[in-house]
Amino acid sequence: MPRKIVVTGGTGYIGSHTAVELINRGFNVIIADDLSNSDTGVLEGIEKITGIKPGFKKIDLCSKKDTASFFSGLDRIDAVVHFAAFKSVAESVEKPLDYYRNNLNSLINVIDQMVLQGIPNLVFSSSCTVYGQPDILPVTEKSPVKKALSPYGNTKRVCEEIIEDVSVSGESLKSVVLRYFNPIGNHPGALIGELPRGKPNNLVPVITRTAIGKYDELKVFGNDYGTPDGTCIRDYINVTDLARAHVAAIDRLVSGKNENCVEVYNVGTGKGISVLELLKAFEKAAKVSINYSFADRRPGDIEKIWADPSLANKKLNWKATTNLEETLASAWEWTLNCREKGIL
Ligand code: UD1
Repeated sequence: MPRKIVVTGGTGYIGSHTAVELINRGFNVIIADDLSNSDTGVLEGIEKITGIKPGFKKIDLCSKKDTASFFSGLDRIDAVVHFAAFKSVAESVEKPLDYYRNNLNSLINVIDQMVLQGIPNLVFSSSCTVYGQPDILPVTEKSPVKKALSPYGNTKRVCEEIIEDVSVSGESLKSVVLRYFNPIGNHPGALIGELPRGKPNNLVPVITRTAIGKYDELKVFGNDYGTPDGTCIRDYINVTDLARAHVAAIDRLVSGKNENCVEVYNVGTGKGISVLELLKAFEKAAKVSINYSFADRRPGDIEKIWADPSLANKKLNWKATTNLEETLASAWEWTLNCREKGIL
């Protein structure tokens, strides 16, 4: 019998890529998503890639009643991968209560049902944002968690604490918390990809939209940082590599190899790339040139961060393998495809 995995937020960017990798590994995937930032067309993309249409339920996990009825209608679930959350840093500053209400309630309702239904394994989608600006680079999982710079970041920190507290309380919940660095790119073939509603804030969607002429130029936020070229440094990780980290986490949990009730892993490449370096790599991969100018620093941005992913390499037997150029080419292919279909 294939193992059954519930993927909340599974029609979103990282969720859909993870659903593909889980299905490709023989898992039976059931997606729960409220479609607030995605649509059911993603399910067709997943089916075209894998040959299998995942189970799907449109559900608002902030509703305790709906979450209970969803989980009680399922039979023998092995694990939940919880992605469902709001994720815009800027929006979270404008609407903090929406972020706390959505991101905390959905996690609480999901864990509540996992405990009630005896579902033992949770993989949680966290972020390197919990480290703030680290004093020492690269960051390991032992680096201190700092005060979050945004309500979004704070929801990730508090969610990690909720998971920790539930484990300490004696419930038989086993969790892997994955702290993502900056996910970019799309599944090769452009059948699923990153499609934020409204104006994107993240760097790669802004670059690709500038490249197709939707925006006149890219504003590079700050060129006076203490980095070699003055622009911010991040650890950009291919989204399929990131998705594979979730499969590795599930493997570890379901095979009982986890050593602690809650395990935390950095999911990054280990390599820091500046905004200008990323821009140049995109121009090379897509064979286009991008108009850009320098603008003021973006409030809340940290100067530099990149991961030490060696714990995940060792314990999850996972490593980021896709090179940056290939990743950026996949982002470009997806954007061109969206433009052709009139979505962009
Ligand atoms: C942020 C969050 C991260 C979250 C992610 C998801 C922090 C510290 N990081 O990542 O936790 O998971 O959003 O949305 O809160 N840039 C430009 N011009 C642009 C857009 C971006 O120069 O038009 C620069 C930014 O200043 C930054 C880099 O590109 O230096 C990456 O920005 P972005 O893609 O928004 O990601 P983060 O802010 O690193």
